[in-house]
Amino acid sequence: MTKRFAPATDRNKHPLLTVLKSHLPDSGTVLEVAAGTGQHAVFFASQLAPRLWLPTDQSSTNVASITSWAADLPAPNLLPAQMLDVMDDEWPVERIALSAPVSAVVNINMIHIAPWECCIALFRGAARMLETGGVVLLYGPFKQGQKNTAPSNIAFDLQLKAQNIQWGVRELEAVLSVATDTGFECREVIAMPANNLAVIFSREKLSSPS
Ligand SMILES: C[S@@+](CC[C@H](N)C(=O)[O-])C[C@H]1O[C@@H](n2cnc3c(N)ncnc32)[C@H](O)[C@@H]1O
Repeated sequence: MTKRFAPATDRNKHPLLTVLKSHLPDSGTVLEVAAGTGQHAVFFASQLAPRLWLPTDQSSTNVASITSWAADLPAPNLLPAQMLDVMDDEWPVERIALSAPVSAVVNINMIHIAPWECCIALFRGAARMLETGGVVLLYGPFKQGQKNTAPSNIAFDLQLKAQNIQWGVRELEAVLSVATDTGFECREVIAMPANNLAVIFSREKLSSPS
């Protein structure tokens, strides 16, 4: 199995850990959607016990990489990596019995490198997974109107769109609107290094997502 490595993932793990420590519920299972290489999963699991950490990704190559990282750096609270495509109407994790219910969904650097529908599907899935008070943490670059968007994020947006017209740095307002429509309240927007944001949401309503 190939252990993949992404330099940016290594760079942002400490700032992200600080945010996770202060915003994750104290217990339960943290569902990591789009876990990528697995670098974050092994690091966060080792730092965030007694929470359980469940890494998932849509790519079998990434699930193999996560599994490989976990074999090298095992943690008792790190659950086996699973396949999960946010676009699926039902996520595989919804069909399995976990020893602790999912209390948070963490999604780092995905919504700009995926079609916009993936952002909507992410919140709909999180709404199915979480009880009231459950947390969603999003991390990545965002646009914040003409004035407040960092030039580096405008350039990154163009670069992403050149790669795939369905990709692009998302407008924070549009993401907040999806979150509201699916029953989440934005609790905090935190400025992070390299013009990224961590955005914390809490599950407020238990009515069906729209
Ligand atoms: C830039 S990588 C970020 C990975 C990791 N979170 C990190 O920060 O290193 C984007 C990730 O989104 C995942 N992804 C893209 N579309 C997805 C989807 N529909 N469902 C789940 N994951 C998806 C990719 O497989 C990839 O692992």
